[in-house]
Amino acid sequence: MERTLAIVKPDAVEKRLVGSIIQRIEQAGFRIVGLRLRSLTRAEAEGFYAVHRARPFFGSLASFMSSGPIVVMVLEAEGAIARWRDLMGATDPAKAPAGSIRAEFGTNIERNATHGSDAPETAAFEIGYFFAGADLV
Ligand code: RTP
Ligand code: MG
Repeated sequence: MERTLAIVKPDAVEKRLVGSIIQRIEQAGFRIVGLRLRSLTRAEAEGFYAVHRARPFFGSLASFMSSGPIVVMVLEAEGAIARWRDLMGATDPAKAPAGSIRAEFGTNIERNATHGSDAPETAAFEIGYFFAGADLV
């Protein structure tokens, strides 16, 4: 079994899409093993996305991610990391396959509704960023 970190980003919380996104996660067969509603400070958003600190979009991304509440979740399944990224679709909603979460719910390449870890090492870091061991069931 593998675990990944999923986030419903501020754009999707604001559009009241939390329920629709969780429904898709459950229907796809993931087990939700951790779930929190959080507001990030700008420093917390910068720390979460520190791997992107040299990218031109870093400042804008940190502002966006600290602009409103987010829902953070830990999802468990066989191959959870790749399966959650498949369900989300490409980073840019315009390039995401029809029916994917980002194609249906994303606005643009930044405001793209959800986040997913991209590798086992990043999943471990990202899960630890939001959850203590006792928070996971
Ligand atoms: P994520 O980490 O959020 O799951 O997204 P991802 O792997 O598909 O994309 P990544 O390259 O890790 O980028 C992280 C987030 O930064 C924003 N972004 N903006 N303006 C831009 O060109 C741009 N590129 C990326 C998006 O919010 C993206 O999800
Ligand atoms: Mg990424």
